[in-house]
Amino acid sequence: MVLEHLHKMNDYTELTKLYDQRGINYFTPAHLTIPFIKQSIVTPVTRILSLGCGDGRILKEVTHLSLQKIVGVDISSVRIAHAKETVPNAVFYCQEVSSFLKSCVDQFGAVFIFEVLEHLIDDLEVWELIPKVCPNGFILGSVPINIPDPAHLRDFANVQEISNRYRLTDYRILEKHVYFKHNIRNGAYG
Ligand SMILES: C[S@@+](CC[C@H](N)C(=O)[O-])C[C@H]1O[C@@H](n2cnc3c(N)ncnc32)[C@H](O)[C@@H]1O
Repeated sequence: MVLEHLHKMNDYTELTKLYDQRGINYFTPAHLTIPFIKQSIVTPVTRILSLGCGDGRILKEVTHLSLQKIVGVDISSVRIAHAKETVPNAVFYCQEVSSFLKSCVDQFGAVFIFEVLEHLIDDLEVWELIPKVCPNGFILGSVPINIPDPAHLRDFANVQEISNRYRLTDYRILEKHVYFKHNIRNGAYG
């Protein structure tokens, strides 16, 4: 069952303070994410957009996989400041992903969304907005399985809940995370 406590959460003010406090000490499974990206992208893609990019620890390892500057978006100004230092050749925006996607007129060949969907008030709306900015590319991402955290707005008890919610077809389980690749063709998920 998806446990949602959205009734308490009308905006991201409190969560953003938490992300700022965690800063570079925020644990994310980079040891799984970086190899997953490298295995999934065998030749460089034109442009990469990373949603909820964090402090740049992942992007610095994969910049060579983008033919143009990588674009990262994160709601935490502290984490974005670290990302700018860590990956000076990328472009970063401190913005909420949903508002970023709604105003974005650029297009990308790949979108990353690692360990972010469980933090979003409107995860399904964000999921549907992504093909608009990546109409003929692919999305790579991950969601934790049953790892409760005060910053999670929903926690998934098992893989089935995650694959059903995001209609995943191509995914694998690495430790306690579902890692997925989803192709997008003509602005729709394949
Ligand atoms: C668990 S961390 C994952 C960071 C990175 N993707 C990684 O795998 O290392 C979640 C990140 O999402 C960001 N975030 C959470 N909600 C967000 C939102 N609504 N808009 C933009 N960023 C958000 C947080 O600030 C945090 O950096």
